[in-house]
Amino acid sequence: MTYAVQELVVRHVSPLDTAEITELVSDAMWDGPVARWLTPDPMERRRNAPRYFEIFVEHAVQYGEVYGTADDSGRMDGVALWFPLTSMIPPPMDYERRVKEATEGAIDRVQQLDAALDAEHPLEPHHYLAFLAVRPSKQNRGLGSQLLDRHHARLDRAGIPAYLEANDPRNRDLYLRHGYRVRSVIDLPDGPPIWSMWRPPMV
Ligand SMILES: CC(C)(COP(=O)(O)OP(=O)(O)OC[C@H]1O[C@@H](n2cnc3c(N)ncnc32)[C@H](O)[C@@H]1OP(=O)(O)O)[C@@H](O)C(=O)NCCC(=O)NCCS
Repeated sequence: MTYAVQELVVRHVSPLDTAEITELVSDAMWDGPVARWLTPDPMERRRNAPRYFEIFVEHAVQYGEVYGTADDSGRMDGVALWFPLTSMIPPPMDYERRVKEATEGAIDRVQQLDAALDAEHPLEPHHYLAFLAVRPSKQNRGLGSQLLDRHHARLDRAGIPAYLEANDPRNRDLYLRHGYRVRSVIDLPDGPPIWSMWRPPMV
């Protein structure tokens, strides 16, 4: 089946769009290896996911470039949240307070995660893929690849590299197939590996 990729590039979206993107990102990401490490209890993890991801979705909608795919009824089923770090972007507003509220007892781990990711984040200008999320019932049908291709084509035309962190071996392999190379493996204390990955522009 072929899906059309609908470009959203939402900079000034209504609160409704933010809620829909947050719901989709939470649905896809709440049970991943890093989320499990942050919040081992499944009920607490599921409950807190929307408040945690909302911080980044709001930030991406304001400062980033967000692309989505929608099904026939218009429901969003895949989304990519990019930050163009070719110029300075301020951190999310009120980050510490919000993340504390969103993660209950997991704040120490969130801080460890943030510090580990920050330490590896490249300083060269690039676009950063903060989240790529496809609704679980729609995974493995090419939506994630189409979203990647869409933005990579633009980066390649402009000669801009891309960076991301892969949180499990399967999505790491997806990114390898899309031209990324592993830069380093980030270790979390007693946690899963995270692969930091870099994609030079293709000519
Ligand atoms: C990773 C993800 C965005 C890929 O989107 P997709 O539309 O399923 O991907 P495509 O159909 O284009 O490509 C299929 C490949 O995606 C990867 N993939 C598919 N489902 C996956 C999942 N649940 N977890 C991790 N990787 C997955 C695999 O590499 C798969 O190839 P394989 O079947 O040969 O292993 C999507 O599966 C997803 O949202 N997963 C959960 C959240 C996540 O891991 N996001 C990435 C954070 S870095």
